[in-house]
Amino acid sequence: MKQLVYISTSRSEVPSLTEVESILSASRRNNARDGLTGLLIVGGRRFLQALEGPEAQLSAAYARIKRDPRHFALVELSRKPITKASFPDWAMGYEAGRGDLAELVYQLTSMIDEPSLQAQLRGFAQLHSKAA
Ligand SMILES: Cc1cc2nc3c(=O)[nH]c(=O)nc-3n(C[C@H](O)[C@H](O)[C@H](O)COP(=O)(O)O)c2cc1C
Repeated sequence: MKQLVYISTSRSEVPSLTEVESILSASRRNNARDGLTGLLIVGGRRFLQALEGPEAQLSAAYARIKRDPRHFALVELSRKPITKASFPDWAMGYEAGRGDLAELVYQLTSMIDEPSLQAQLRGFAQLHSKAA
């Protein structure tokens, strides 16, 4: 099993609810089919996504995601083997940068027992909760 974390920038200035909903519905459908789980956080114009699962399915999903015109400038923050999924129950969990993003993400990531992933997600949320 592998885990991938990347950030990207939305093509539209702020992704609309419709856009995010369409991303999420395709993600949940495909990820459930492919045995992938993960979390998508939207902060301002940035996406941060953690995606995990069997290597072949993960690579195929990431190849599709990279080609998606709704975002650009993807930067891989980490890609590594894992023994246990951090988000086993979420075909794609989601949080938007409304309200206190940092607080929400803090709670959402409390079950993660991998310090570097937890720190990455929390750091991103903290940065964007100030900008919002
Ligand atoms: C920020 C972002 C995250 C995405 N995450 C996923 C994902 O986790 N799984 C997925 O299948 N597609 C994801 N997508 C959508 C894919 O780019 C692509 O549109 C979709 O997989 C096509 O699926 P379909 O052929 O079933 O319509 C994401 C797109 C964006 C912009």
